[in-house]
Amino acid sequence: MAIDYSDEREFEAGTEGLLSASVIPEDDGEGSLRPKTITEYIGQEKAKENLAVFIAGAKKRNESLDHVLLHGPPGLGKTTLAAIIANEMGGTLRKTSGPAIEKPKDLAALLTNLNENDILFIDEIHRMNPAVEEILYPAMEDRQIDIIIGKGPAATSICLELKSFTLVGATTRSGQLSHPLRDRFGIDLKLELYTPQELKKIVERSAEILGAPVDPEGALEIAKRSRGTPRIANRLLRRVRDFAQVYGDGTITRQMADVALTRLEIDKEGLDALDRRLLTSIIKQYRGGPVGLETLAATINEESVTIEDVYEPYLMQQGYLTRTPRGRCVTRLAYEHLGLDNLLPEEHGQTRLPI
Ligand code: ADE
Repeated sequence: MAIDYSDEREFEAGTEGLLSASVIPEDDGEGSLRPKTITEYIGQEKAKENLAVFIAGAKKRNESLDHVLLHGPPGLGKTTLAAIIANEMGGTLRKTSGPAIEKPKDLAALLTNLNENDILFIDEIHRMNPAVEEILYPAMEDRQIDIIIGKGPAATSICLELKSFTLVGATTRSGQLSHPLRDRFGIDLKLELYTPQELKKIVERSAEILGAPVDPEGALEIAKRSRGTPRIANRLLRRVRDFAQVYGDGTITRQMADVALTRLEIDKEGLDALDRRLLTSIIKQYRGGPVGLETLAATINEESVTIEDVYEPYLMQQGYLTRTPRGRCVTRLAYEHLGLDNLLPEEHGQTRLPI
């Protein structure tokens, strides 16, 4: 059976990989940093408060939790939340991903093996094969699946009852989910990029677990340069700890964090080499935009999905980039941040001004 229960891993090299929000081998120890209960989980206040009510309600009624859709950029804690739901509901977490489920029978096997209150976590659910997705509809709605046995005129269909499980679907692109699938999730939680103050608390919590002494200012410096993403904050914490142990007394101070992160080419605003390359390319090659996503991806030699899912959310949230119907545009802030004010259109006598 081609079902992959392991975490999806992508291997990247260099400093650009350090800021990527996808799972890379560095995160092998991430499990130990993950909060296990909802009260330990920092940030995402709105999603967390609502989820706590839904969990308490389901437990009071002695029912399984309604199906949950988690959406938002990578690295914000979707898998962590799924594990917390399983823990709070007293079920086992079964992890897979949309592209890993190749055939309807793979999903049928997964579903029929679930026990009461188990959580089936499907990452990248927007990438599920439509034939597989069809199996999910009756499974989610009526907790049953129809299986066809045999071929041709002798084929018969049997209906299998499932235990009352909860499906937790995660996606970076809720817009790509089909309507029938989306409609079957009773709980829809959108995860937002974290604030520096929330990330500071996460860095302090992780540092304590790792036994790495950290000053409040050191934690805040890492937090401010982690592009709103706990996975990146935890990764940078480990790297800054290396610098602190090799060049200092092991304590992560603001200055040590600054030295380490500057060496890793992560600037004061948390932009890495690829962020800067992306913005610089729009300014220098496309006069600030608009430029289409595919053209931009080809120009900087990066996958368009990576640009869209990993890089753009932070650049847009920080006000460096906008998406328009005609393509991507940089803002005045991007010119100023990169010290390219001399290339601002009005400096060249043009009438069009970036926002
Ligand atoms: N580690 C990673 N994400 C976290 C979160 N949201 N709260 C606490 N620790 C975390």
